[in-house]
Amino acid sequence: MADENGPAPIPLGRGRAIRFYCEDALPGLPRRLGKGSVDVVVTSPPYNLGIRYRSYPDRRPRAEYLAWIGALASSVETVLSPAGSFFLNVGGTPKDPWLPWDVAREVGRTFVLQNVIHWVKSIAIDRRAAGRSAGLTSDLALGHYKPVVSDRYLHGAQEYIFHFSRSGAVPLDRLAIGVPYQDKSNVTRWGGAAQDRRCRGNTWFLPYPTIRERARDRPHPATFPPELPEWCVRLHGVDRTRRLVDPFVGIGSSAVAAVRLGIDFVGFDLDPEYLRRAAARAEEELARAGDRVPAPGDRPAALRPPSSGGSRRRSPRSSGRSTLGSASA
Ligand SMILES: C[S@@+](CC[C@H](N)C(=O)[O-])C[C@H]1O[C@@H](n2cnc3c(N)ncnc32)[C@H](O)[C@@H]1O
Repeated sequence: MADENGPAPIPLGRGRAIRFYCEDALPGLPRRLGKGSVDVVVTSPPYNLGIRYRSYPDRRPRAEYLAWIGALASSVETVLSPAGSFFLNVGGTPKDPWLPWDVAREVGRTFVLQNVIHWVKSIAIDRRAAGRSAGLTSDLALGHYKPVVSDRYLHGAQEYIFHFSRSGAVPLDRLAIGVPYQDKSNVTRWGGAAQDRRCRGNTWFLPYPTIRERARDRPHPATFPPELPEWCVRLHGVDRTRRLVDPFVGIGSSAVAAVRLGIDFVGFDLDPEYLRRAAARAEEELARAGDRVPAPGDRPAALRPPSSGGSRRRSPRSSGRSTLGSASA
């Protein structure tokens, strides 16, 4: 049963569940969760850019906003386990490129910045740069971006995922989101390479899936794809993640990732309508998974490539004005 604090919990079995709270996450985190009871936090806070959320007014003086981000870091610090990871997704705008770094500096008062990951939403790959082995017959342009009409600025095709931890030395399962070697002779050449996998590095191409109708398919102005929190948890280590938390869960992309990985999850949002949608998405994912929701200790299913961002082949040298799809986030 749902109550005034959010949709009803969705059981995953073996004591795990997907829980949502319709309340302010900053006091909510320490009130709802035990000290050190969370292994991974993945979240995207409001960016203070005037995004039109249903309930939250996304514009306040910069100093006040940054103080609020600092308070968020303190709340996360209370609940994060000693070897936990805090992945914070933040983007800027062409006019305000320092914003993500101002946010990172503020969180850096509480945590150590261990990795900076670039979430690439759209990329153009020149056929010649890809090399013959890639087998491309033309240049590629993939993914969606928000077009900028300007003769000063480039369109923003990237956001940051700042990976914070307490010590800066949390071991990671880099090969869990690794990629195969292009040159297979490297599998044996490098001492540590026991399998055909190498670290993916800190550029993650995660396009938005193509949608037909925004109000129906993605009724929220600033989401990330579920693969983003999924890759963060896999990188931290699925077997070391007892609980995942998203303080700003929106329409539940992190909850979908938690269902896929079979991990206990808690999400907060101020807006009941977003949370209803989040619960529906988690239920749909659970129905899709059926009895394939991994149990604790199971090896998670192999990494699936992110669903297509609606790729279209076109020359990267053509005008940057036209878009490859709908603007998002
Ligand atoms: C960038 S969006 C997150 C979207 C989410 N990652 C997704 O994929 O759906 C930020 C969310 O934070 C929520 N929010 C703003 N202030 C909040 C607060 N103090 N506590 C909880 N949620 C808040 C907004 O309603 C909004 O849905």
